[in-house]
Amino acid sequence: MHIVIAGGSGFLGSALARALTGEGHDVAILTRQKSNRSAAPHLSFVSWTPDGSAGPWARIVDGASAVINLSGESIAAKRWSPAQKTMLRDSRLLATGSLTAAIRHSPLPPGAFISGSAVGYYGDRGEETLTESSAAGADFLANLAKDWEAAANDVSHVTRVALVRTGIVLDRQGGALPKMLPPFKMFAGGKLGTGTQYMPWIHKDDWVRLVTWTITAEGARGPLNATGPSPVTNAEFSKALGRALKRPSLLPAPAFALRIALGEMADALLLSGQRALPVRATDLGFSFGYSNIDEALASVLA
Ligand SMILES: NC(=O)c1ccc[n+]([C@@H]2O[C@H](COP(=O)([O-])OP(=O)(O)OC[C@H]3O[C@@H](n4cnc5c(N)ncnc54)[C@H](OP(=O)(O)O)[C@@H]3O)[C@@H](O)[C@H]2O)c1
Repeated sequence: MHIVIAGGSGFLGSALARALTGEGHDVAILTRQKSNRSAAPHLSFVSWTPDGSAGPWARIVDGASAVINLSGESIAAKRWSPAQKTMLRDSRLLATGSLTAAIRHSPLPPGAFISGSAVGYYGDRGEETLTESSAAGADFLANLAKDWEAAANDVSHVTRVALVRTGIVLDRQGGALPKMLPPFKMFAGGKLGTGTQYMPWIHKDDWVRLVTWTITAEGARGPLNATGPSPVTNAEFSKALGRALKRPSLLPAPAFALRIALGEMADALLLSGQRALPVRATDLGFSFGYSNIDEALASVLA
């Protein structure tokens, strides 16, 4: 297969590209960097300008089995000033606009457009069980995810569009987990705020397998929760992390301290939660390798 991954140089995209090239598929990564980096077998880099329009790079989508959209300014990299919020939105909507323009004008459109989204789509929902048909939330991240998905759906008349609502991807090297480890290692780990907020975690290997499966799963269209089958509360997660690291998890981080340190991000990323279940993928026959938080943490921390 020939697969295009926009934002494929990042945490999730590079893992996906590694898995696909390892299986012998050809992967082209769209990157804002110069394209002349040396690449592994089956892997190439193509430079693009994700400004909402198609450019000279656009022919790369012709005849692809799938175009996968993972581009966007990192959500947790910086405090959310108004300028940073604009950057978070624009980077996703403009990149998606560039890809849909390329797909719309392609003489041989790709077999699927698999576009990123996030469980933030649902907003802060307490203990409510969330499936792909649950309503969207109304906060900043929910509105961003809603608009991001709508932008991707612009080409649903041209190709199959799957919207991957990713949860908290567990890995030792990237994503949220490495940021959680230092306090635990210093015997100062614990729940965040009340700890009752749900964490819709997914093992990185399952995320990669789920997106790879989506490339050829003809029934996978519309939203798919890319979350494991057993979300846990933050308090449960903290205890499991303590067990995995053989450290106590007794020191809670109070909500007010997180808010002082991180501003709006504290509520949006740490103190709110979603009990999201992967109903659509499971109904279509996908099975997860990791459904137990202790086994997942043991695997990623091994
Ligand atoms: N990691 C998670 O747990 C998680 C959870 C939920 C949702 N997601 C979503 O999944 C997507 C991929 O996540 P990730 O963790 O792999 O992200 P990442 O490591 O930050 O990679 C995203 C890629 O997007 C490109 N990018 C960065 N800033 C950009 C900008 N201003 N404009 C256009 N492109 C930009 C970069 O590629 P170049 O520099 O090569 O252009 C970067 O490699 C993101 O949209 C993220 O919001 C991730």
